[in-house]
Amino acid sequence: MEKDIQEILLTEEQIQRRIQELGEELTREYAGKNPVIVGVLKGVVVFYADMIRQIKVPCQMDFMWLSSYQGTASTGKMVVKRDVSADIKGRHVLILEDIYDTGTSLDFTYRHLLEKEPASLKICTLLDKPERRRPGITLKPDYVGFTIPNAFVVGYGLDYNEYYRNLPYVGVLKPEAYL
Ligand code: IMP
Ligand code: MG
Repeated sequence: MEKDIQEILLTEEQIQRRIQELGEELTREYAGKNPVIVGVLKGVVVFYADMIRQIKVPCQMDFMWLSSYQGTASTGKMVVKRDVSADIKGRHVLILEDIYDTGTSLDFTYRHLLEKEPASLKICTLLDKPERRRPGITLKPDYVGFTIPNAFVVGYGLDYNEYYRNLPYVGVLKPEAYL
């Protein structure tokens, strides 16, 4: 796997240090609020597992799984493949995401959860790639781990063709690794 990586963008240490900082902010934000922390599968799993242990308040874990309409991924139309199981009406909800790229998936997730009338709805994304944002998407994540340049990255949960999710760092894939 390592041979396919052109450059390590974020080391394990950098990621863990930032998660600790975010954890301190989120612990303050959610004190006394018993939040439901919603992860968007599958890319978020590694970040989710590390992040949740730094949010030191009573909280519940939940997950959503999205997919693009078959054959029309370029239109950016999403469907819910697996919805949250908690009743989040009146609850404080925090969305955890791996990356805010074109914004299609996070924008969809945000609207979908907002319809369920949570008491509050905030977003924490590990990575933000602002250069890729689709016109018309104005959503601003409340918490961002790292703002990164416009490159395709893998590792720490992020995949190419479902591979590389288990790399402990975030790296840029070599062009020749795209098979
Ligand atoms: P969106 O374009 O913001 O809707 O992002 C959709 C999904 O594409 C993200 O949740 C990621 O799973 C995936 N994605 C976007 N950019 C990258 C990347 O650089 N590497 C790996 N996956 C990505
Ligand atoms: Mg994702």
